[in-house]
Amino acid sequence: MAGAHSYGEYTTHLRELTADVASGRSVLHHRLLASVDGEASEQLRRLVPLDYRRQVGAFFTPAPLKQRVSDLLRSRGSSERYLDPTCGSGDLLLAASHALPIRESLKETLEEWTYRLHGWDINSEFVEAARHRLFIAALLRHGWDGQKRKRWPVADISAYFTNVVTKDGLEALKEQEAFVGHIVLNPPFHVVSSPLSRPWTTRPTSAAALFTHQAAHHLADGSYLTAILPDVLRSGSRYSSWRTQVDKILRRCSLDTYGQFDEHADVDVFLLDAKVTRQNPFQTSSEWWDSGDSAEVSFRSVNDFFSVRVGTVVDNRDPLDGPEYPFARARDLPSSGEISTPTRRRKFSRRVFEPPFVLVRRTSRPSTSQNQPRLSGVLVTGDGPVAVDNHLIVASPRDGSLKSCRTLLEVLSSRTTSEWLDNRIRCRHLTVGAVREIPWLV
Ligand SMILES: C[S@@+](CC[C@H](N)C(=O)[O-])C[C@H]1O[C@@H](n2cnc3c(N)ncnc32)[C@H](O)[C@@H]1O
Repeated sequence: MAGAHSYGEYTTHLRELTADVASGRSVLHHRLLASVDGEASEQLRRLVPLDYRRQVGAFFTPAPLKQRVSDLLRSRGSSERYLDPTCGSGDLLLAASHALPIRESLKETLEEWTYRLHGWDINSEFVEAARHRLFIAALLRHGWDGQKRKRWPVADISAYFTNVVTKDGLEALKEQEAFVGHIVLNPPFHVVSSPLSRPWTTRPTSAAALFTHQAAHHLADGSYLTAILPDVLRSGSRYSSWRTQVDKILRRCSLDTYGQFDEHADVDVFLLDAKVTRQNPFQTSSEWWDSGDSAEVSFRSVNDFFSVRVGTVVDNRDPLDGPEYPFARARDLPSSGEISTPTRRRKFSRRVFEPPFVLVRRTSRPSTSQNQPRLSGVLVTGDGPVAVDNHLIVASPRDGSLKSCRTLLEVLSSRTTSEWLDNRIRCRHLTVGAVREIPWLV
C-alpha cells in the first residue's frame, strides 16, 4: 500500500542489519536490541503520515502492553501455533515468541518458529519488518551479542518466517474453525462499513469489533484469543449486542482494563483473554465489567432515585423556533456546585427539563489521581423549564427534591464512584446506562 511505502526506509535498515549478521560482520548489540523493542514504532511515527496511520489503524503495541501479553501467553504454556491477523511489524508475534522454546541450534529454532508463528498484514513493508525482527529475536535468544562469528550457521534468511505474509486479515479470517492454536490481536480501531455479515449491527462499526468476531469464528474449539481492544467494545451500550454474539463463542478467561494505549494514542484499551467454547450449550456469561464490592453492599443505584436522560438540544442542528428557554450548555457551567438558572437563552420546540435536576458532562476521563473525582454534577435549582444541550446528561430526582439532588452530587464526586466508573466505562463518552447503574452509596 502506498501510504506505508515510506516505512521502506526502516525495513531496509533491518534488512541490512540481518545481512551484516549473516555475512559475519559485527553489529552493535544495542542496535539489535533496539530493533526488537520500541524502535519500530518510533520509525512508524517518523516515516508514515498520521493520516495514513489513522486510515489503516497502524498503532503498534507499546512495550508495557506487549509485556502484559507476553506474560499472559507464557503463563498458559506455549501453544502449538500463534496467529496475528493484523501483525504490523510483529510486536505481538515477538510477544508470542517469548512463549516458544529455543532448540539446540539457531537453525532448528528458526525452523520451529517458522512453523509456529503466523502473521498477516495488508502492508508489505510492515510484514517484511516483522520477519526481520523475529529473526533478530531468535538470534538474541541464542545469545548473539553482535560480535563477528567465523561461520554464520544460517544460509538463507528468506527461507524463514514464510507464514508471515501480506494478506487482508478480514478476508483470510472468513474461513470458519480453521485455526488451531492462539490468535493474538491488536486490530485497527477505526469505524468501518463492511460488506461482511455483522449480526450485531447494520450500521458502520468498529473494525476491532469485526476482527474480533471473525477471529473467534476462525478459531477451532479449545483455541485461545488474546486481544487488545478499545474500551467502547467492553463498556459501550452500542456494542452490547456484539458482546452477546462474542459470548456465544468465547468463554472469557480474563478482562484487564488497561487504560490509555500509549502516550501517542489517546484511547483506552482493555485486554481480552478468552477460550473458544462454541460447543457448550450451557454457557452463561457475566457482564463485561466487574460490578465490584460496592454492588454487593448496595443493591440500589442512581436509577432508583433519578430519571437519567441525555439533553435534547443539538445546538448546531435544531432550529431556533418554539418558546424561548434558559439554555444549559456544558461550556457555560461551573465545574461543580449549584446554579439557579442558566443565563443563556434559546428557542426550542421539543422536550425541556423542570428543575431541580443535576447536570453531568458526558465527556469524562478515567481518573488519574486519587484526589480528583472523575465525575461532578451541577445542580440547577431555579424555577421554570430549561433547555439542555445534548453534551450533558440530566438526572431528575424521582421525588422532585433538592435534598436528593444534593445527595447525588455527593455520590457522583465520591472516590467509590470514580473507582466504580473507571471499571465500568473507560471511554470518554459516558453512557446514560453507566450513570443509571452508579451504586447509591450514601
Ligand atoms: C493496531 S496495528 C497493530 C499491529 C500489530 N499487531 C501490533 O500489535 O503492533 C493494526 C495493523 O493492522 C493492519 N491492517 C489494517 N487493516 C488490515 C486488514 N484488513 N488486514 C490485515 N491487516 C490490516 C495495519 O496495517 C496495522 O499494521
